Amino acid sequence: MAQLWGGRFNKGVTAFVNDFNASIMFDNRFYRQDIRGSIAHVTMLAKQGILTDEERDVIIKGLEEILADMNEGKLEISTKYEDIHSLVESELIRRVGDTGKKLHTGRSRNDQVVLDMKMYVRDEAIEIRTLLVAWIRVLVGQMEKNLETYMPGFTHLQKAQPVTLAHHLGAYVEMAKRDVSRMDDSVARMGTCPLGSAALAGTTYPLDRAYTAELLGFDGPTANSMDSVSDRDHICEILFNMSVIMMHLSRFCEEVIMWASNEYRFVELDDAYCTGSSIMPQKKNADVAELIRGKVGRVYGALMSILTVMKGLPMAFNKDMQEDKEGLFDAIDTTKDCLIAAAGMLETAVFRPEVMRASATGGFINATDVADYLVNHGMPFRDAHGVTGRLVLRCIDLNCALDDLPLDEYRKESELFEADIYQTISLETCVNKRITVGCPNPKLMGETVVAYKAWLAENE
Ligand code: ARG
Repeated sequence: MAQLWGGRFNKGVTAFVNDFNASIMFDNRFYRQDIRGSIAHVTMLAKQGILTDEERDVIIKGLEEILADMNEGKLEISTKYEDIHSLVESELIRRVGDTGKKLHTGRSRNDQVVLDMKMYVRDEAIEIRTLLVAWIRVLVGQMEKNLETYMPGFTHLQKAQPVTLAHHLGAYVEMAKRDVSRMDDSVARMGTCPLGSAALAGTTYPLDRAYTAELLGFDGPTANSMDSVSDRDHICEILFNMSVIMMHLSRFCEEVIMWASNEYRFVELDDAYCTGSSIMPQKKNADVAELIRGKVGRVYGALMSILTVMKGLPMAFNKDMQEDKEGLFDAIDTTKDCLIAAAGMLETAVFRPEVMRASATGGFINATDVADYLVNHGMPFRDAHGVTGRLVLRCIDLNCALDDLPLDEYRKESELFEADIYQTISLETCVNKRITVGCPNPKLMGETVVAYKAWLAENE
């Protein structure tokens, strides 16, 4: 147990407390960011004359060797070290001797851990963004193939009005595009570098914090050293962003699960994305979709956890904050896996346009269009709604669809009906005559697909 702070203590912690206190078993995940930060720090210290150029070079060489060894898994990760910061510093001193003891000049683990986590979160946010763009590409690919795949649109899970599959999938493109822009906004807010805030109150060494920030690709240094070391907003934000991504994916998966069921049969999922039953030989279950739907809970849980950890914490660093890591890491892994799984599942799915179409022709899905017909012939909408409602009741009595109700039945309710009513309420007309921005009209959705492709070209 090599503690960096042993000097003031008469005895060490118990073995249990050592392990209870340690974060090394999970914070080793950001060793790259930790070493990158240390290299920038000593570069700045040398520029400011706080270290000599020779000392800087010795330290950087040692850090680079540690990085290479860690990349190859050569260093043992154990609770012999409290955290990744302690491991890197102890290992450096072991390798380069006393010069290594100068690395920690003018900084604290409090600013170091925020720096590492900010860099890590920024790196992961960019990776998640890339996966979101890949997900959008798959959605747009299926949209393009299904501009004229007519299907029922639902409200309250009851058939409402006809739409197309392209229109339906386009809703998920819009969600994912907002997810991308939320990530971009969050990353833009993570542009300030905490290094040099030291424990909480800055330092008497003449650090050039702007220079360190620049070396690490930040926009500039943080403005308040207490806020620097206490801030975990970047973790809250990325967890919120991932929660929304997962919420969107779970809605999509819920629909896929229904659409793949025997009752809907709208889609056949590829065998590679389904599993069977150990007892029922006929089963082909949409397990991947169900798992994505289920994994939302872990990500929401991590968001609730960090919000609760941070609530009521006084300035500045408190050890509670070490609890910001495991939930975040699990949420990042989960969200990335789910984006990959959802994209693969949709890309390989085979839709059944004829089943969707048949479903869209039942359930009086064109009733609004019957009412609109009357409106176009001069009847106020509220009256037209009443007339059409009675026609639906008549259809239920006769066990037929509005498309099959004889014209004299129509005319019993209103003289405004003529033979062109059947053409007006056909599935194609119902969808194709819609003209408002964002509607399922295949021509308009086709233009939307073109716009999405241009967006993809700019974002890949
Ligand atoms: N391991 C700590 C964390 O993960 C960082 C170290 C700061 N510790 C301290 N006692 N000031 O947040």
